[in-house]
Amino acid sequence: MSTRRKRLAPGIVEPRLRGRFGRPYLWSEACRSTQDVLRGTEAPEGAVALTEHQTAGRGREGRRWEDVAGTSLLFSLLLRPPAGPPAEQLSLVAGLAVAEAVEETRDAAGIKWPNDVLLRGRKVAGVLLEAAEGVVVCGVGVNVLQAEDELPVGTPVPAGSLLSVTGRAPDRAELLVTLLEILEHRYDAWRRAGLAPMLDELEARNVLRGRRVEVGGERGVAGPIATDGRLTLGRDDGTTVLVGSGEVVTRPT
Ligand code: BTN
Repeated sequence: MSTRRKRLAPGIVEPRLRGRFGRPYLWSEACRSTQDVLRGTEAPEGAVALTEHQTAGRGREGRRWEDVAGTSLLFSLLLRPPAGPPAEQLSLVAGLAVAEAVEETRDAAGIKWPNDVLLRGRKVAGVLLEAAEGVVVCGVGVNVLQAEDELPVGTPVPAGSLLSVTGRAPDRAELLVTLLEILEHRYDAWRRAGLAPMLDELEARNVLRGRRVEVGGERGVAGPIATDGRLTLGRDDGTTVLVGSGEVVTRPT
């Protein structure tokens, strides 16, 4: 790993943490998937497992999440949400937090429902939720420093990194602690009041709005994200349907 890609070791990250998230901070040089590091642990809410490289990183819909060592943020966050809003909504909460953290690079980010984060039409981050028995492991992958030729090809949305899209290389440690702070703030707000307080901010970044899409066997024109986190679709017959999950495929308008 070149010095350009300084490790996010505990000695670098822990002194900068500003809240509960990231404690404990479980760092590794490499692992299969940070999701597996946290699965089944007794660790408290807020625990973060971060690695420089995953050998079997997972994406949504059974896809792989590829990385080049030391170029990304690859971490999982342990959450123990009490009974309340459905835990699936956390993918939007996390997606919004990632978008806001990425915007610290001074570029407006978009959210492709439910949780892809885009910069200038390219996917720079994704969120994977895995929930069991009241525990949610929220995995976040952000492409930060990859050069164009280090990015995966053939992905449903063309991949980019913050560096490849903006030409600027953010400090990974600073981005990580900022993201954890925003995530904690958004998570606490969601626990108090669900998605309602963040709907405007989600909608302002909703890149699907007005686009013809297909999702979960439904076709139509994407409308707003509803208070319960589902996406509104306007069908050609004039009716409206809410879709709760699935891969969104955009179609020519
Ligand atoms: C997606 O957009 O498909 C979700 C990608 C999620 C990738 C992150 S990287 C850290 C965590 N560990 C994994 O194996 N996946 C998530």
